[in-house]
Amino acid sequence: YGDPNQKIDYIFKVVLIGDSAVGKSQILARFARNEFSLDSKATIGVEFQTRTLVIEHKSVKAQIWDTAGQERYRAVTSAYYRGAVGAMLVYDITKRQTFDHIPRWLEELRGHADKNIVIILIGNKNDLENQRAVPMEDAKEFAQKEGLFFLETSALEATNVETAFLTVLTEIY
Ligand code: GTP
Ligand code: MG
Repeated sequence: YGDPNQKIDYIFKVVLIGDSAVGKSQILARFARNEFSLDSKATIGVEFQTRTLVIEHKSVKAQIWDTAGQERYRAVTSAYYRGAVGAMLVYDITKRQTFDHIPRWLEELRGHADKNIVIILIGNKNDLENQRAVPMEDAKEFAQKEGLFFLETSALEATNVETAFLTVLTEIY
């Protein structure tokens, strides 16, 4: 996961947003440390982790910010979005409500972030296919209408987590 003495060509800030318990912190843990925990605690305030990767022969340091989905634990909104060049908008495919809230998150994002920010919609927990409450087609259609990238992931099984980050980072680059 990267040589700490490596020279850095770019630093990209990417923010994670979405309802509580959709798996934002575990998606980040999987990407940054290749870890996963089933008894993950709700995030309070803001945390961030970095990982340096090579994209088209340049070393890119991804600085991924993670905040609470729960309103009362959330960080100051404007500071959270400041300088972000990418955003991951996460819902849980087994909880319809978390998908129904996506337009609100998108509104907040568009109200605070740079207009050129690269956004990916992520349906997480797709290892729980038997509990699916959001058809993939609904999300695809929404993403297309709003001009977002879209992928389903599983932080637990490490499915598409890497691809999701690479999609955003490559597009920013
Ligand atoms: P807040 O910090 O409150 O906003 O929540 P969060 O979005 O960061 O959720 P978190 O990553 O803490 O995950 C919530 C719960 O879902 C934990 O029990 C995780 O282990 C679980 N979880 C996260 N990702 C997955 C996944 O891909 N599959 C399954 N089955 N469970 C997951
Ligand atoms: Mg969290």
